[in-house]
Amino acid sequence: MTAMINDTGEANNRIATAATLLRHARRVAVLTGAGVSAESGVPTFRGSDGLWEGHRIDEVATPMAFRDDPRLVWRFYNLRRANLRTVQPNPGHFALAELEQRFAGEHFTLVTQNVDSLHRRAGSQRVLELHGNLSRTRCMQCHAIEDRGLDELGELPHCPHCNGLLRPDIVWFHEALPAATWEEAALMTSLCDVFLVVGTSAVVYPAAGLIVAAKRSGAKVIEINLAETDASYHADVRLTGPSGALLPGLLKAIG
Ligand code: OAD
Repeated sequence: MTAMINDTGEANNRIATAATLLRHARRVAVLTGAGVSAESGVPTFRGSDGLWEGHRIDEVATPMAFRDDPRLVWRFYNLRRANLRTVQPNPGHFALAELEQRFAGEHFTLVTQNVDSLHRRAGSQRVLELHGNLSRTRCMQCHAIEDRGLDELGELPHCPHCNGLLRPDIVWFHEALPAATWEEAALMTSLCDVFLVVGTSAVVYPAAGLIVAAKRSGAKVIEINLAETDASYHADVRLTGPSGALLPGLLKAIG
């Protein structure tokens, strides 16, 4: 019983410390990963077994996989697109959107590895999507990028303009991040006083490199995650638990 009270007290202290850092910050940058959408019902990548139909996720999310078996890769992404039709932003997404309101314009930037649009749907404005977006397609032939929403695309969709093969507009393993988006994320990271890392295992680079970059530029790092991660070592404050509960709690503590 005493231990439980102490644990709760310690957790409350950490929230209070994180809230103080955010209250005094002039500029904030946030990096989110799949964990922030977990409570919406979007599966994470490195969850219980990290497998999809017996494939490792990083086997289907590569240009080589698409060249060898585009149908298989589209099946994977069509399932993820179908899942998005059923999900809604959760209180964690909404708390981040509300946090943004407390900062002027460019003083708050949300960098996400997620491709599910849930931050925007929750009202976040300055969102930098490092890994693309599930609603967009890109033509392999004419390179046209189009937002197709969450419509059924069929098992092997082709370009309405040139009939070339379409691919999801997602950044796959072995591919470069969109340059302008990445440069903006790196700049905002270097300028922030507080860097908030939410729901990412912090193992995929270059995104995870932003955490060390923030630290090197003198920012305080706050981590919110269910578990210890590769980011934890760099965190000044670690809040352990579900982001759907911790983020609204943090917002409330900021006052
Ligand atoms: P991961 O699946 O690697 O990690 C999800 C993290 O979220 C883990 O650290 C979990 O502990 C944590 N988590 C799960 N549920 C949570 C919750 N309710 N509240 C807080 N934390 C929670 O996902 P990412 O780090 O996003 O890239 O993966 C990075 C990239 O790897 C993805 O963008 C994707 C993938 O391959 C591409 O598709 C290019």
